[in-house]
Amino acid sequence: MTAPPKIYVAGHRGMVGSAIVRQLLAQGHPAECIVTRTHAELDLTDQAAVRAFFAAERPNQVYLAAAKVGGIHANNTYPAEFIYQNLMIEANIVDAAFRNSVQKLLFMGSSCIYPKLASQPMREDALLTGNLEPTNEPYAIAKIAGIKLCECYNRQYSESHGADYRCVMPTNLYGPGDNYHPENSHVIPALIRRFHEGKICSAPSVTIWGTGTPKREFLYVDDMAAACLHVMNLSKDTYQQHTHPTLSHINVGYGQDLTIRELAETIADVIGYSGKLVFDKSQPDGTPRKLMDSSRINALGWHATVHLTAGLKLAYEDFLRNDKA
Ligand SMILES: NC(=O)c1ccc[n+]([C@@H]2O[C@H](COP(=O)([O-])OP(=O)(O)OC[C@H]3O[C@@H](n4cnc5c(N)ncnc54)[C@H](OP(=O)(O)O)[C@@H]3O)[C@@H](O)[C@H]2O)c1
Repeated sequence: MTAPPKIYVAGHRGMVGSAIVRQLLAQGHPAECIVTRTHAELDLTDQAAVRAFFAAERPNQVYLAAAKVGGIHANNTYPAEFIYQNLMIEANIVDAAFRNSVQKLLFMGSSCIYPKLASQPMREDALLTGNLEPTNEPYAIAKIAGIKLCECYNRQYSESHGADYRCVMPTNLYGPGDNYHPENSHVIPALIRRFHEGKICSAPSVTIWGTGTPKREFLYVDDMAAACLHVMNLSKDTYQQHTHPTLSHINVGYGQDLTIRELAETIADVIGYSGKLVFDKSQPDGTPRKLMDSSRINALGWHATVHLTAGLKLAYEDFLRNDKA
């Protein structure tokens, strides 16, 4: 029997990284073969420290789930930090992995790599076909650079060194480990907090930004983690047959979207909030629809399994466990 690979999960305390660790353990990967470092222990923007870490640990596989992540406000306020830190994290990890003979690496991107006006559902080949959403352009450019970094290392070093660096692009994620900050969180954790507080205070109504008509797609984070392991473990031949050397990333979505109104009604239901939902139409709606085309990963044998209502119940339990407010 071959020894299990030593796996480094970068960003293991984040929502996605922690789900990947859970998934590895659930699939029987021994805990002692999972390597992690907190941000305080290893700053991934520090090239020398990252090189020293890889040289000392010599992992066989890397899941790259560390990134500087934030909402519109943070992206708009700190564009330099978003582009610089994300470029550095990716470049340092990919290059140090290569220098230390890591053949398998999985990079996490985001649906914001696609043009603002990409046709829906968004296919992988929409990449670099139009202008990006200006508010998160620095972050998206860094993510696109991450995809191209992986592709270039594959193109130059696949034959000579066996480099096999893969990229997945998740849709909006939710679930355990989400950020429930009152002002700086994504729509699902923000609504969970507001409906929960509305229920506790018996508030007659809860206000939701926008008209409620935009459509969005959401994937439970453990489904995402399962997709990451699935893509990582595909044979090189299979991965190459379904991708192209210069268009190699794979979308990971739930496959269906719903309106923000439908989402809000479902969350209110899950939480048991019985007041009124008020839509504040003076607030911006954003793009009318954002749905991934996930046919590539579906053809590779992965499908989402956690229904939105079931996932929201688990997310609410996580919120109740962790809410310090
Ligand atoms: N959440 C979503 O809805 C979503 C959707 C699409 C794609 N993604 C992608 O999935 C990946 C992970 O996202 P997430 O939601 O899990 O984010 P997250 O919860 O914020 O986790 C990111 C992790 O990276 C760590 N990190 C950041 N900068 C670091 C540095 N310089 N050195 C070491 N560690 C650092 C963070 O540690 P500290 O907190 O200690 O800084 C944190 O543990 C990202 O690439 C993101 O683009 C997420």
